[in-house]
Amino acid sequence: MKLWGGRFTKNTNSAVESFHSSISFDSKMYKEDICGSIAHAQMLGKQGIISPDEAKQIVDGLNSILADIEAGNVEFTVEAEDIHMNVETILTERIGATAKKLHTGRSRNDQVALDMRMYTMNKTKEVQQELKELMSALLDIASSHTSSYMPGYTHLQKAQPITLAHHLMAYFNMFKRDYDRLKDWHKRTNLSPLGSGALAATTYPLDRNLAANSLGFDGITKNSLDGVSDRDFVIELCSCLSIIMTHLSRFCEEFILWASNEFSFIELDDGYSTGSSIMPQKKNPDVAELIRGKTGRVYGSLISILTVMKSLPLAYNKDMQEDKEMTFDALETVTGCLSVFTGMLKTTVFKVENMKNAALRGFTNATDVADYLVNKGMPFRDAHAVSGKLVFYCIERSTDLLSLSLDEFKAQSDLFENDVYEAISLETCVEKRIVDGGPSKVSVDKQIKNAKEMLLKI
Ligand code: ARG
Repeated sequence: MKLWGGRFTKNTNSAVESFHSSISFDSKMYKEDICGSIAHAQMLGKQGIISPDEAKQIVDGLNSILADIEAGNVEFTVEAEDIHMNVETILTERIGATAKKLHTGRSRNDQVALDMRMYTMNKTKEVQQELKELMSALLDIASSHTSSYMPGYTHLQKAQPITLAHHLMAYFNMFKRDYDRLKDWHKRTNLSPLGSGALAATTYPLDRNLAANSLGFDGITKNSLDGVSDRDFVIELCSCLSIIMTHLSRFCEEFILWASNEFSFIELDDGYSTGSSIMPQKKNPDVAELIRGKTGRVYGSLISILTVMKSLPLAYNKDMQEDKEMTFDALETVTGCLSVFTGMLKTTVFKVENMKNAALRGFTNATDVADYLVNKGMPFRDAHAVSGKLVFYCIERSTDLLSLSLDEFKAQSDLFENDVYEAISLETCVEKRIVDGGPSKVSVDKQIKNAKEMLLKI
């Protein structure tokens, strides 16, 4: 008979049995489920709701189940429906009638909410670890490229020169925000819903804080109805994970462009690229493409959970069982993508000469021509127009600003003097941008130094 079978006279339809069973995926939460049950049993014992001896029997039984699951000696069944009832069924087989007291003052509704919080918090630690490794790889590479000039782009058109270090530090900041977002998410998630019962808490004198503390929670959820119906933490997590994938996919897109013959900014390691079965010359950036593609899958998790939760009446509804597969998948996908991406990044060769040559073309110093004139007293708008005219003049003659003679400069404005060449050189364009957060070596060195100190502290 089912653990809930008392009021039923007929068996579950066989198709429904497997349809509503979640054991194939929620078995991943076996550890959290058992730890939660141990904390609950110990609390029941301390509160005199069950005897100390009964509590001990239950805890010992649960520990033996945990050890056997980890040793691969436990088979779960679809008939027992989910991880919660599988564990309870096995416990009953092992310790007999006392096992039936474990569920006193508890419902699967607060149990599953508890397990999900603990499981996602545990798995998120892995994501944060991967983020840290990526950030540290970025700092290493950036440290050796503070003088590697490259074009900065807007609209994928060359804009102003920067350095590779500056570009990499932009990503560093994005991943740091991702890290912080997860830390912030953790604060809201680290509250125990145990004791919320099915929805209306319980008449037993539970000590919710005791159970919560023993599980390492910061506190308890404040309303039993909210405790069992809330899946904001799942939505928020999928959102954090989606943003990580947004960042990875932008980086991957740049890697794909940079690896192209047209850019030739990087050479991917053979270990992180693949060939073509027909075109012998090909070396494809498959890893970057696959990460870019998997972004859709993680966004899918976010949209799914938002849609599942939309319009659900309080409190628990079975719809909410659908929160698991996609969240687990998103966590695994993001952890995997971060790890492979870091490996790809660390083994990539940056072709700094090509980057520098690209920065020298495409009029990346046109703003600096205008700034030169402003420094000589011309209003910026007029200076912008003069620089624009010079750019047009160069395009017509297939040349660049640095190759113009002083006379050609002077033809547009007599404010130009010989010092213009120095003022609009690639080095000056980058190294004069010394404001905090800017691309100059001084400024990026400072960014890297602060980032390194910060990374040691998190
Ligand atoms: N397997 C269920 C889930 O994942 C557990 C909670 C079931 N509660 C219930 N009253 N049916 O959501």
